[in-house]
Amino acid sequence: MSTHVTPPRKPLIMGNWKMKPALLADAKTIVTKIGKQAGSFRNVDIVLCPPAVFLSELKRATTSRKIMWGAQDCATRREASETGSLSPAQVKSVGAKYVIVGHSERRALGDTDEIVRTKMDVALAEGLTVVVCIGERVRDTRGDYLQLLNAQLISAFKGRPRTELDRIIIAYEPLWAIGKSAKEANVQPGDIHEMMIFVRKFFAERYGKAIADERVVLYGGSVEPVNTRMVLTQGHADGALIGHASIVPSDFLSILTIANERT
Ligand code: 13P
Repeated sequence: MSTHVTPPRKPLIMGNWKMKPALLADAKTIVTKIGKQAGSFRNVDIVLCPPAVFLSELKRATTSRKIMWGAQDCATRREASETGSLSPAQVKSVGAKYVIVGHSERRALGDTDEIVRTKMDVALAEGLTVVVCIGERVRDTRGDYLQLLNAQLISAFKGRPRTELDRIIIAYEPLWAIGKSAKEANVQPGDIHEMMIFVRKFFAERYGKAIADERVVLYGGSVEPVNTRMVLTQGHADGALIGHASIVPSDFLSILTIANERT
């Protein structure tokens, strides 16, 4: 009888800095503080997604090789006369390996499921790893929100070859939990666990159980040190996408410490 047990994957802790901080000097301070300790978190993968305009400088500001970098969005086209947009090639050329697409804050600014799909396609073609966000605005007792999430997943993954899946991470971020303190949002472990099962079921039905089990599914929305353990253990998330707590070095380092010790 085989005694082989697949070792649990490292939790992936991602910081999404959104439009903060205002000053490059402050961004450098944050990265320097995180970078000094990053090497000690051997059991965690760390990705920081600062404002793209800071990326090159921040990469230079830390010698930590532990930190991987990501962008918060990208254009829908590889090349175009598109004032203000950032192509996947551009973010890649300044060190980003990851790109977030379909964040609810971008969806609120007009990114439809179709646009999200196109952004995924161009980013994947450029060799980036995509973090695609899904999430419902509100929950209803009939479970209609599950249909919305299903539609987001279908749009992102319909017809997608298995070979692309290893470079796609799914982040479940319910809008009702984003931007609040952990206490205020009061997300329950069952809220997260249910969605982890839902996402894996989606993949199991299309690609089989083994492929579904390998998917990396993150949770995001009001993750702070106080609820990190719950998210990763009772919530069964493979990691977390952190907003406000990711630009407070002491909070982010606490989150990394807890994730590093996940049992
Ligand atoms: P908060 O952690 O601030 O709730 O933000 C979550 C988020 O939107 C990460 O992408």
